[in-house]
Amino acid sequence: MTRFLILGAKGQLGSSLQAVFKREGHVIALDRSSCDFSDPSSIRAAVRATRPSIILNAAAYTAVDRAESESDLAMRINGEAVGILAEEAKSCGALLVHYSTDYVFDGTKSGPWLESDPVHPLNAYGATKLAGERNIQQIGGRYLIFRTSWVFSPQGNNFLRTMLRLGQEREELKIVDDQKGAPTSALALAMATRSILTADPLPNFSEVAGIYHMTCSGETTWCGFAQAIFARAKPAKPWAAVKCIPSSEFPTPAARPANSVLSNDNLKATFDVELPSWQSALDTTLTALGIFAADFARKY
Ligand SMILES: NC(=O)c1ccc[n+]([C@@H]2O[C@H](COP(=O)([O-])OP(=O)(O)OC[C@H]3O[C@@H](n4cnc5c(N)ncnc54)[C@H](OP(=O)(O)O)[C@@H]3O)[C@@H](O)[C@H]2O)c1
Repeated sequence: MTRFLILGAKGQLGSSLQAVFKREGHVIALDRSSCDFSDPSSIRAAVRATRPSIILNAAAYTAVDRAESESDLAMRINGEAVGILAEEAKSCGALLVHYSTDYVFDGTKSGPWLESDPVHPLNAYGATKLAGERNIQQIGGRYLIFRTSWVFSPQGNNFLRTMLRLGQEREELKIVDDQKGAPTSALALAMATRSILTADPLPNFSEVAGIYHMTCSGETTWCGFAQAIFARAKPAKPWAAVKCIPSSEFPTPAARPANSVLSNDNLKATFDVELPSWQSALDTTLTALGIFAADFARKY
């Protein structure tokens, strides 16, 4: 039976991976309390004790703005710890599945970014995630790195949940409209990962080892995402009015790319896997939260 080790078990993706993989083999899910990425010995002990055949790493330092002032800690978790994990995976013969970010790019390209495009992170978080990618590639072995973007789920810290809260607390929300990307649900990521790892026949993971872009299809801006949330979610009272603004009117510690839309063509060509549109993934997530307006209309 395949032994899956899921790390970062309490995060958005870690939780979805647990739900999606629970019937696919023996699943061991560890959170920070039993595998702390700021402590190399904790990572080594966790892998050696569990002897997984596949490691799914959803643990990461994801506070993009805070990473500007905590770049050493972010590098330890997103860069150095990932290298240690790759060493352990290689020495026990496990396939390492790791997730990275659209923020490795600087946003200057007009079309979707390819895996072969030059990387140039604009912020500390992107630089630390890039270091993690490079550490895995340098160590080699069997690995898959999936770069994704704008992750949301019914739990945790994400833009969807922030909008659902602020949209009820405030009368007007000003949202940035000059950064475009692909909102991607943690569930869609977990399901695409499962399709790849349970395919029949299985791919030869030594031959396909590498970086793949994995996002929901389509694109929007943060303001477009907010408008879609408020158009679809059933509110207790009317939603705040949305005003689209340029990034210059909403300064943040970390700079963000203007265009971080990723091309998923390579994922489709290699694994025959496609994620749903971001709108469909949003509807599924709102249904899970019990507030998708179309479900409401059907029921009441
Ligand atoms: N969120 C996004 O918009 C986004 C976009 C692009 C790529 N990604 C990538 O997608 C992956 C999954 O992200 P996510 O959205 O699921 O993030 P998340 O919800 O923030 O979950 C990250 C998890 O990592 C854990 N973690 C943090 N520091 C740790 C440490 N020192 N040791 C062990 N665990 C630690 C956190 O634990 P605690 O709960 O204890 O803090 C949390 O459970 C990450 O690789 C991320 O870089 C995310």
